[in-house]
Amino acid sequence: MCGIVGYVGPKQAQDVVIEGLRRLEYRGYDSAGIALVNDGAIASDKRAGKLANLEKAIDESPLPAATTGIGHTRWATHGAPNDRNAHPHLGATGRVALVHNGIVENFARLRAELEAAGHELVSDTDTEVVAHLLEADVVAGADLTTAMQQVCQRLEGAFTLVATDAADPGRVVAARRNSPLVVGIGEGENFVGSDVAAFIEHTREAMEVDQDQVVTITPEGVSVAGFDGTPTEGTRYHVDWDLSAAEKDGYDWFMRKEIFEQPRAVADALLGRHTASGQLQLDEVRLSDQELRDIDKIIIVGCGTAAYAALVAKYAIEHWCRIPCEVELSHEFRYRDPILTRNTLVVAMSQSGETADTLMALRHARTQGSKVLAICNTNGSTIPRESDAVIYTHAGPEIGVASTKGFLTQLVACYLLGLYLAQVRGTKFGDEITSVVHEIAAMPAHLERVLAGADDIYALARDFVDARTVLFLGRHAGYPVALEGALKLKELAYLHAEGFAAGELKHGPIALIEEGLPVFCVVPPRGRDQLHDKMVSAIQEIRARGAHTIVLAEEDDDEVAPYADRLIRLPKVPTLLQPVVATVPLQLFACELATLLGHDVDQPRNLAKSVTVE
Ligand code: F6R
Repeated sequence: MCGIVGYVGPKQAQDVVIEGLRRLEYRGYDSAGIALVNDGAIASDKRAGKLANLEKAIDESPLPAATTGIGHTRWATHGAPNDRNAHPHLGATGRVALVHNGIVENFARLRAELEAAGHELVSDTDTEVVAHLLEADVVAGADLTTAMQQVCQRLEGAFTLVATDAADPGRVVAARRNSPLVVGIGEGENFVGSDVAAFIEHTREAMEVDQDQVVTITPEGVSVAGFDGTPTEGTRYHVDWDLSAAEKDGYDWFMRKEIFEQPRAVADALLGRHTASGQLQLDEVRLSDQELRDIDKIIIVGCGTAAYAALVAKYAIEHWCRIPCEVELSHEFRYRDPILTRNTLVVAMSQSGETADTLMALRHARTQGSKVLAICNTNGSTIPRESDAVIYTHAGPEIGVASTKGFLTQLVACYLLGLYLAQVRGTKFGDEITSVVHEIAAMPAHLERVLAGADDIYALARDFVDARTVLFLGRHAGYPVALEGALKLKELAYLHAEGFAAGELKHGPIALIEEGLPVFCVVPPRGRDQLHDKMVSAIQEIRARGAHTIVLAEEDDDEVAPYADRLIRLPKVPTLLQPVVATVPLQLFACELATLLGHDVDQPRNLAKSVTVE
């Protein structure tokens, strides 16, 4: 996830683009860059780190005046976050400049083709390949719009592209597939951006761009066409948010926005990691097949929400791979002198990649000779840098302190790791793996449906605004969901909340049940084992003692319905994947309840986004 801006009009493009980038910096801050069209040439600067580094560089060495420009603030995917990999990228002769948000999945093939034709590429990014292809087409005589249409037809993956051609000042061309792009329509000036925050101080007239479309903006107007050149119309709308709401895309909190981004985040976490036939491609695991076959134990370390994702992973990995898998809180791990060997794989789970407890755990594991694989959302952060390999979760920046899309994408990364190990070690047949991969690929659509029911969850939060204690019960993969639901409520609503394995109830916690106590119950899908029925019995037991049962169950589960005071229907998915859909209503509940209580949802008291001290 990156932020992109493009401008054509009478104003100084540098000012408009830098201001737009400042408003989009929440989308990524690994590097920032700008390209301006001046006197038949591209003038560009780009710097690793926050936008402030670019601004300082431009202050020291000003760019020429220009009225056409594009800019980028980067959340690194391909290539380390350094100056060289920062955007914009230029074509072979520097005539075309390009910025990009997304992942071009077939870039390696395209890069090989360009190199065979004598192109020299200077970065490690997927983007530079596209800049070279575009420039080759304009040099061959196409205008930039036609070149963009032609090149987009060759690209696979997700992308928003914004380009400008030094020989054609006064035109910026953008394209989108599965990544955001919106057009700002001004008087004698026009804009493109990742979202309306990029241009909201200049115009509130905006236009949506559909999938697989190319937009051309000039000072005089905006035109839209499909990748095949067929002209089309975008949908215009008026933006009535203020500036700060615009950065949050109209949501009141970054957390709520991030909850609603989860279908996209989960899709991005999967992108490029399996073939259409369901074969897993996880090259980033960087361990040989023999090393993967030699693993005799997996230990996953993490804290808080990351540790709950690890617990789900334990159920999945042991089931699919038949490798013993332990989950350990990072801060407990090294102090208990764990048994680690060269054949132990330690997985360090961390959204931020900076959690000190997890970093210390991974360092301990490495000194014992174990291999460490990070599952992380933050490119270039310390934990992946110090690990032997990393699976990035590609959720995009998570600004709200409470982890939401970070958690769901950690789950996806764990599923992919488990299935990849099963594929390499032959513990599951190919068609079984394919079928689970297809189930995971269906998750974004399932999540959309869960999110469509948000208003019902908000109504539930209103009904329980006076609750002082809330309990959460689950079994199997639903147990970590219960723990996560309770954590969200503790950290956001400052309520006493606890999650239990439902089987543990009668060993003590059932004494807590009293008249009217709200208890969320995550019911496993009906299957061959007896988990579902045992959970239904637990619900009956607590209801008989006065609990108010809020039941999350798959949509056609009529057996549990009579025991539910409130029923939240979940899409039908396999048991091991249920946490992906079951967690979302609990996130929505916590976010809404905290809002009703007047708390700062994005920055709960006493907490920080990354905990860099032990
Ligand atoms: C809870 C939450 C925390 C983090 C934990 C680990 O909503 O966000 O519990 O999950 O501090 O952080 P990372 O994943 O960055 O290591």
